[in-house]
Amino acid sequence: MTRFTVAIDGPAAAGKGTISRGVARKFGFQHLDTGLLYRATGRRVLRGEDPVLAAQGLQPDDLFGDDLRSGEVAQSASRVAAIPAVRTALVEFQRAFARRTGGAVLDGRDIGTVICPDADVKLYVTASDKVRAERRYKELAAAGADVTLQSVLADLAERDARDAGRDTAPTKQANDAFLLDTSEMTIQAALSAAVDFVAAVYSRGD
Ligand code: CDP
Repeated sequence: MTRFTVAIDGPAAAGKGTISRGVARKFGFQHLDTGLLYRATGRRVLRGEDPVLAAQGLQPDDLFGDDLRSGEVAQSASRVAAIPAVRTALVEFQRAFARRTGGAVLDGRDIGTVICPDADVKLYVTASDKVRAERRYKELAAAGADVTLQSVLADLAERDARDAGRDTAPTKQANDAFLLDTSEMTIQAALSAAVDFVAAVYSRGD
């Protein structure tokens, strides 16, 4: 096996990160959280940079820092992500990562539809608004963030509406993506379902 690409999309806080990292670990693939590219661009814009220049100028150091996970940066990410030239600036990096030898898992909003329409496996991970907000609230509160369940719910609803409603690369389930609704599942059960699904394709060797 030289190349194998797994595309994982879905709305905010659906469990994509945990599932992507778990699938990557299980199969020995590398993982790219593409949301980080938009968050890093959004953080640069909050510091006063032009969105397109910020995306074009991203450096490896931009992908670090606890504040990348804040609600303020998430909102800025979602605003810059609606700008077509910002998305264009980030396409080639993501496609090159997907083509790397040894297998790749990319998670985001448009991986199965725009970045890697020929991915070997596509998953669309979702959960009810309430479940996603509760999961994200627990994560942020555990990390010491000053948030309430209400503020997290509002952040997710605003971003989901913007991300699904934009003209360029909106959040969307690809026609050939497997839908994994994790509302009633523990995250471990969701990961195990995703691993089984990937394994069924991977073991066929196609
Ligand atoms: O972790 P969470 O699901 O809350 O968000 P994320 O994956 O880190 O993405 C942050 C924001 O980046 C999203 O709200 C989208 O606006 C944008 N994004 C995107 O447009 N396309 C992607 N492939 C990944 C993220």
